[in-house]
Amino acid sequence: MKRRTFLKNTSLATVGLSAFGVMNTFGNGFGDTYKVNEQRIVSRIAELAKFGQDAKGHGYRVAYTPGDIDGRAWFINLMKNAGLEPTIDAAGNLIGKRKGKNPLLKPIAFGSHIDMVPDGGNYDGTLGSLAALEVIEILNEKKITTEHPLEIIIFANEEGGTIGSMAMVGGLTKEGLQQKSQMGLTMAEGIKAIGGNPANIQACIRKKGDLKAWLELHIEQGGILEQENIEIGVVEGIVGIVHWEVTFEGFANHAGTTPMKLRKDALLAASKFITEINEIALKIEGHHVATVGKIVALPGAYNVIPGKVVLGLEIRDLSVEKIELLFTQMEQRAKAIAADTKTNISFERQANESKPALTDKVLQQTIEKSAKALGLTTKYMQSGAGHDSQEIALITPVAMIFVPSVGGISHSFQEFTKTVDMVNGANVLLQTVLAVDKR
Ligand code: GLV
Ligand code: MN
Ligand code: MN
Repeated sequence: MKRRTFLKNTSLATVGLSAFGVMNTFGNGFGDTYKVNEQRIVSRIAELAKFGQDAKGHGYRVAYTPGDIDGRAWFINLMKNAGLEPTIDAAGNLIGKRKGKNPLLKPIAFGSHIDMVPDGGNYDGTLGSLAALEVIEILNEKKITTEHPLEIIIFANEEGGTIGSMAMVGGLTKEGLQQKSQMGLTMAEGIKAIGGNPANIQACIRKKGDLKAWLELHIEQGGILEQENIEIGVVEGIVGIVHWEVTFEGFANHAGTTPMKLRKDALLAASKFITEINEIALKIEGHHVATVGKIVALPGAYNVIPGKVVLGLEIRDLSVEKIELLFTQMEQRAKAIAADTKTNISFERQANESKPALTDKVLQQTIEKSAKALGLTTKYMQSGAGHDSQEIALITPVAMIFVPSVGGISHSFQEFTKTVDMVNGANVLLQTVLAVDKR
């Protein structure tokens, strides 16, 4: 999908055509008096943050680690208390179901993830997960049975490449299961550790049409809403993400006796490459981003010229073609750097890449109307972060609600979203679920 095409599509958002047909007047039939419980959301965010915390109070609920496993057990318990009869599917996704009046209708699903990046924050994924549970709690308290069955889904290992949601849409391959996760286990080993069944991963697949819709509330993770003083973001599209492991091979030799001109320094080659990546990404117009977020230099000593470097390259954009174009240029530059530095540079494209996705236009409008009915300001925007929603978009209409991140900080222990914004987002989610149910 070309970027221009994406923008053109989204400008048609007001037309309102989708799997749901043309939307008419808004209203959930229950009025907008039902509101989420602020105190419950705040205290649960704080409770979940405790799992996997280190001595500095920083979180380490990286997928498949003890922190993740303990946090999931806590969440399962909350699901049970809310009457959801939780199950764990073959990919380790947590699923809680609530019956509707009409069992023939397809479920409306909503949720997010509770795993985190190393040293991550307390809001990424957790807000959407706890707000989903909050919707169920309010329906229970008000004794409301929706027409459609409802499903909360807490996807496993979102941060490691939307692994749980990818499996649910049939995209987690044998190769993908063997890919190493952040904590060192393969995805297959990790899935086993959280109660899934990688040997029968197909058992978790949901087909196109199995769900009526998927909704995800999430923090923005950027600074646009805060800067523009907007309360709710309506997400139009989510970027695709591709990773490469790049290996630089030189020759490890004595750092004191090897003259500068005779060296084959793998780290020098890697440094030149990192600079080039940045220049290529800056030179080409668009909203794409390219990052080297991790690097290992071997053998790793003051007095040895690095003989080998392995780094992680990530490129994101709403257009698959743009990602390929950027990578082709980077690969070409790598050839020149390898020749200059007398090193070898090789690229291994990682399995489990996330494809870009558009959200459903009628669901976008439903979110906007729900927010406006609550007196909240809205803005249509793109997501530069990856989300499970982009995988699930392959099997059902999806939509995302964004709320402001203070200072635009995320994937950091300094990540923060104000209570008022969490509550606004959860109320919009509640109203949107009820509105979709009435359709
Ligand atoms: C997930 O949060 C990602 O954007 O990497
Ligand atoms: Mn997230
Ligand atoms: Mn994240």
